[in-house]
Amino acid sequence: MRIIAQAHEPKSLAADLLVVPVFKGAKRLSGPAAALDKASGGLLSDLMVQEKFEGKEGKHATLRTMGRLAATKVLLLGAGDKPLSEMTARKLAARSTVLARQAHAKKVAFVLPDGLGAPLPDIAEAVTEGAILGDYRFLKYKDEQMKEHAEKAIDEFAVAVAGKKDVAAAEKGIRQGEICSRATILARGLVNEPASEMTPERLVHFAQAIAKANPKRISIKVHDEKALRDMKAGGILAVAKGSDEPPYLVHLTYKPAKKARKKVAIVGKGITFDSGGLSLKPSESMEDMKIDMAGCAAMLGVMSALPELAPDVEVHGISGICENMPSGKATRPGDIVRTMKGKTIEILNTDAEGRVTLADTLHYAEKLGVDAIVDMATLTGACMVALGQEVAGVMSNDRKLVKRILDAAASEGELMWELPLVEEYRGLMKAHQADLKNISGTRYGGAITAGLFLEEFIDKTPWAHIDLAGPAWAEKDTVPHQPRGATGFGVRTMLEFIQKL
Ligand code: BES
Ligand code: ZN
Ligand code: ZN
Repeated sequence: MRIIAQAHEPKSLAADLLVVPVFKGAKRLSGPAAALDKASGGLLSDLMVQEKFEGKEGKHATLRTMGRLAATKVLLLGAGDKPLSEMTARKLAARSTVLARQAHAKKVAFVLPDGLGAPLPDIAEAVTEGAILGDYRFLKYKDEQMKEHAEKAIDEFAVAVAGKKDVAAAEKGIRQGEICSRATILARGLVNEPASEMTPERLVHFAQAIAKANPKRISIKVHDEKALRDMKAGGILAVAKGSDEPPYLVHLTYKPAKKARKKVAIVGKGITFDSGGLSLKPSESMEDMKIDMAGCAAMLGVMSALPELAPDVEVHGISGICENMPSGKATRPGDIVRTMKGKTIEILNTDAEGRVTLADTLHYAEKLGVDAIVDMATLTGACMVALGQEVAGVMSNDRKLVKRILDAAASEGELMWELPLVEEYRGLMKAHQADLKNISGTRYGGAITAGLFLEEFIDKTPWAHIDLAGPAWAEKDTVPHQPRGATGFGVRTMLEFIQKL
């Protein structure tokens, strides 16, 4: 799908499907919609009356133009309240690609309404994200549907703007939207792939491919099992012990062409499959556990987009990659492991493995001397109990850093909410025979106690932890730009965060 910006001329705007957002309660059409209505001799207003279409968000109406416009079909999309927000623009664009496919449209034109709730480049960016993200499906293992999806592919998606001057502004947003959405889709693909395919080794190959594609800006270090032993990464080694697949620690570095203004580390949880280990998960909870590397996938998506976005920030992408399996070699409840930082952990539940691998990766990141560390991890079911399936929990030791992350998330339409690192709960993670234990011993506040555990491995660097156990995976097609399956959550927020640093 090629996405372009085009100046809007009501009569001559040719497309198989002309998408026209209409605000709620509009008695009379305004702006470009009014111009189209006039040019077609009242086609749009007639349709609104016939279909009792009032512009409610989520509603739509279609009709063939029968030659009264250059476009073959018109799709009126309810846009809700004026002005058009980035979030609504994103959703409407996503819905239009789905409806365009149903209508066998190859060329779609999306007419930007008058009354934008954000600067034009930001709206164009949101429209682009909606179109690309809403059009994505993981069909690799469904041959028939894959063929059909390819046949019905949309060739061109034009964002129609008022005049020549606006074309350049829209193009800027489109380009940004394209880069960030492709990075999100890259992450989705990695997460959707079954764990039998996306083994630690394969995931490492993927990281290497990202570096290879951009040798000028991105370098990579892969620490294998032996290197991990030399580094005394006892946490990662302990989690990997039960699996036949060896563990890795990958470290990608993006260096800008100019001198870097800041240095940040993005750390991702990279458990390619979480069976729970000897503290085996019940089968229902295990079904989706190929998603337990979604933090790592998001980090890789981010790294893949940096050369094109070219921020003047040095970015380190780090992940401890391994598989959590039960076997005769697996770590047992009660085992005590020594982490890279030197702190010891009593493993009381082998299913609380993410924090054990992150203990090493966060320490590795801190030793790089970065200005900030952000980790993304499908860390706790408790975070989903607290915030539901669509909202990520953010915890941090630094007020300014959380604000930057929450602002970036809001502008990208990714739902995040801060949870407090309650000092009074810290004692819950202290162990009887080691420095820390990996579970708190209470059913309550599990997302927070996990966050406090991670904080034990950070000395003084500003750090934020994003628990994306819920939003990493969409169980249903509830959000139009997030079709069922892996969402690629976190990629766009992190790219926005890095660019705004
Ligand atoms: N990977 C899971 C967390 C998870 C749950 C991610 C659901 C996505 C969806 C994590 O390793 C885990 O198993 N956490 C345990 C921690 C508990 C043993 C303290 C949990 O949440 O039950
Ligand atoms: Zn687990
Ligand atoms: Zn896990």
